[in-house]
Amino acid sequence: MAALAELEPRARQILERERVVYEASNPRSREAFERSCRVLPGGVSRTLCYFPPFPCQTAYGEGCRVVDVDGHRRLDLFNCATTLILGHRPPVVVKAVEEQLGRGTAFQTNSGLETVLAEMLVDRVASVEQIRFTNSGSEGTQMAIRAARAFTGRPKVAKMEGGYHGTHDCVENSVRVPAGSGGPAEAPVAVAGSAGITPGVLNDVVIIPYNNLEAARRILAVHASDLACVIVEPILGSVGFVPAERDFLVGLHREATRLGIVFILDEVQSFRLDGGGAQKLFGIVPDLTCFGKIIGGGFPVGAFGGRRDIMALFNTATGGGSIPHAGTFNANPITMAAGIATLEQLTEPVYARLNRMGDGLRDRLKALGDRYSVPMYVSGIGSMFKIHFSAAPVRCYRDTLQSSSLIHTALFLFGLNRDVFLSEGGRCCLSVPIGDPELGEYLGVVEEFLAALTC
Ligand SMILES: Cc1ncc(COP(=O)(O)O)c(C=O)c1O
Repeated sequence: MAALAELEPRARQILERERVVYEASNPRSREAFERSCRVLPGGVSRTLCYFPPFPCQTAYGEGCRVVDVDGHRRLDLFNCATTLILGHRPPVVVKAVEEQLGRGTAFQTNSGLETVLAEMLVDRVASVEQIRFTNSGSEGTQMAIRAARAFTGRPKVAKMEGGYHGTHDCVENSVRVPAGSGGPAEAPVAVAGSAGITPGVLNDVVIIPYNNLEAARRILAVHASDLACVIVEPILGSVGFVPAERDFLVGLHREATRLGIVFILDEVQSFRLDGGGAQKLFGIVPDLTCFGKIIGGGFPVGAFGGRRDIMALFNTATGGGSIPHAGTFNANPITMAAGIATLEQLTEPVYARLNRMGDGLRDRLKALGDRYSVPMYVSGIGSMFKIHFSAAPVRCYRDTLQSSSLIHTALFLFGLNRDVFLSEGGRCCLSVPIGDPELGEYLGVVEEFLAALTC
């Protein structure tokens, strides 16, 4: 097996060569980016959308492909950060949206669609008795946390190191922690993920190392009387779709329940695993669940739901609830129509096929790493995966500090130049329109890259 230190100089050469090719073959995207930079800081409205030397500007999407303004037609293996489970412009969703466009785009009162989508989610997800819609996953986690605080009367929030729950102050921390700044691995400290987050906010945040039940129990016990909730993803998304170990998630849930701490499961991404959510696969019943991404069928969305007694806090109109929940576009009828049309397609065989494809792909990627003697760990579950250029398995955030992001960046640009769109950070996912030929295309590019890396 080659050492990463030996491979990195070669990766740097590949990166430099691919960068030159990318710059030469994407003149329109470069021009579009320069224009954007005049009015948008960094040329984008989402941090993740930028990559050096400049992002390609999308012209349109079609099935499992995205086409950019320079005419490159790429296999999309990021699907708007896992959102587009049916791919781009699935005809059933386009039809539902067009029909709703003919009726109106935004109303002050329920269009009926909101109730239908809520019913679908309540029927599918056993723990969800009632639900509210938001415009983003971030708003969903924010409201769920507020509900937990109101319900328990306690101020603090426990989250995982490496856990991502959106952009609001109390969760935008300890997501990507620079090496050496997060405190001891068994007792991490909260590290602000952005300037502008106050010490007061951080003081209310407790950090737990993922997949370490012993440490989690100890940390929960220390803060129990102050903890409103623990919020956790069943699959640690930003770390590379690293699944929770069953004992960890079940144990964390049990301990939180024993201590009267509201257990919030963030299924914004993991809901693409199963109609009942990852919670069904893990056999747990969270107090609250957060949703987003796929439930909006490609339109802006989020949701939070769960126990009726907690959700009753939002019944300010007739039930004496104490949490107002506004939002001009909450449950927007276009989003609701797209969400319903999407969930209607997501039957058990559809999930099963996607998940099987992911399992097969991970096996084939591992086999490629072995064939080229490149230290590669492939994390993921179901249709989500990530290659880590690392000899060690990845079970939590700190494990990623040993992997080479340089090699991945080289693979990303190498892929772009060969019409495969990965994510710069390496996280990828499949969509329904993908089949064996597309998997073959991707694996071919990875193999070509590994050959170049080791030649
Ligand atoms: C697990 C998880 N929670 C919350 C969010 C925030 O969702 P949004 O980007 O819609 O605000 C994300 C977004 O990627 C996520 O992956």
